Amino acid sequence: MSQSTTIIIFGASGDLNGRKLIPALFNLYRKGRMPKEFTILGFSGTPYEHEAFRSMLHKKLSEFADYQFTDAEWDEFSRYIYYHTDKAIDPESFDRLKVELDRLEKGPANRLFYLATPPQFFPTIVEGIGRIGLTKEDEGWRRVVVEKPFGTDLESAKALNQSLHQYLREHQIYRIDHYLGKETVQNILYFRFANTIFEPVWNRNYIDHVQITVAEEVGVEHRGGYYDEVGILRDMFQNHLLQLLTLVAMEPPSSFKANSLRDERVKVLSAIRLMRHDKIWENSVLGQYRGYRQEYRVSPNSRTATYAALRLYIDNWRWQGVPFYLRSGKLLKEKSSEILIQFKQPPLAMFPIPEWYKMAPNILALCIQPNEGIHLRFEAKVPDTAYNTRSVNMEFNYQDSFGPGTLPEAYERLLLDALNGDASLFIRSDQTEISWAIIDPFIHAWESPEAPPLAIYEPGSLGPVEADNFIQHDSRRWLRAFGGHCCD
Ligand code: BG6
Repeated sequence: MSQSTTIIIFGASGDLNGRKLIPALFNLYRKGRMPKEFTILGFSGTPYEHEAFRSMLHKKLSEFADYQFTDAEWDEFSRYIYYHTDKAIDPESFDRLKVELDRLEKGPANRLFYLATPPQFFPTIVEGIGRIGLTKEDEGWRRVVVEKPFGTDLESAKALNQSLHQYLREHQIYRIDHYLGKETVQNILYFRFANTIFEPVWNRNYIDHVQITVAEEVGVEHRGGYYDEVGILRDMFQNHLLQLLTLVAMEPPSSFKANSLRDERVKVLSAIRLMRHDKIWENSVLGQYRGYRQEYRVSPNSRTATYAALRLYIDNWRWQGVPFYLRSGKLLKEKSSEILIQFKQPPLAMFPIPEWYKMAPNILALCIQPNEGIHLRFEAKVPDTAYNTRSVNMEFNYQDSFGPGTLPEAYERLLLDALNGDASLFIRSDQTEISWAIIDPFIHAWESPEAPPLAIYEPGSLGPVEADNFIQHDSRRWLRAFGGHCCD
């Protein structure tokens, strides 16, 4: 097999390439992790000469890279970057791309095609490269990285899978969910399965419920046009929140190989109870931040949700009866992604504490970002009192244990894995479809005429009061999901 590798990025003049892909590839290069010989070819409609494209990327890099670099390092790396101006809607553009590839590669090469375009172009591009044989694995491997969103519902995801499968085998398709590229997300499996002490209590006998929160401080910013079509359930739940749930709830895989991991992810998703239409309202709250309708390119009558809280159940032996509360929203008080696991109370309150005094339950907090870490809250006796208890924490902070700046950007891991042919952190076709099947009933109900009005919440708040009532209905409350320490 050939040593040389070409990375072809469609949508190369866009945001994702400048903010994430090039900074990730450059950092991999600085760490000596790129293939020995490689070329990066940007493909987009916006006209650039090679040099102008490199300068544009350099500017973005200075703005968005979360690491320091020198101009000399950039100059060395940028020599590998080229640009091809063309429009994917023109079927002949792919013939021109082929000529350009042959010119740059000067011999057999592996090819990684990255679809960083709006999703409506995914089938067009795959058809374009497939039709002229660019996806054939004859002189090296051919892989295609597909960005999100992968469809807008189950039907469209199935159709997209079908159109990709016309030209690609499943092992060539790398569907991205950047949450899986986060170190703290990958660590969930290490936390569970590289230790013996948690797994025995990781079930319905000991766990009262699980809360998964992805709160964002930013609103829709310049993405109003896109977001208004999509809303929070498609943008965050079908992918990122379900991914987190999957890692918390899945059974131990038989190996750490891609297919074993993916089998377990699919298995647990398949056990999630599909919500019946008449149960949707009692199992979800959808909201919109005040002022959303005045955002750039958002409809003034928009009924698109920017916040949601759902209650899901997993019908299997491990999780029967344990509610999983998922919530996410834009323009909230703080950015914070966390998984909080509340354990059951001890079966017997044997301490002579007054009746009014409630001991706090144990909470395990997996803090995904920022303030990455894991914290376990437990009760301790307050010294020099007869029987008072207080909650204290056992803490693990990435920064203290591994030092500052040791957490790479998610795209670094994912691009490296795609280059190395490791699909563990990518989504198989069946997982995408099952995830849509879980979220679709909520989307359809909330988009139907009988849907109640969205709960309006204030920018910078913790979300709508209706979401508090929703969980209080189960005699529970949202745990410390906003703020520095997860469970103080
Ligand atoms: C993206 C969504 O997939 O994830 C965005 O489209 C969201 O709306 C983003 O802001 C959140 O990612 P992160 O890594 O900042 O939590």
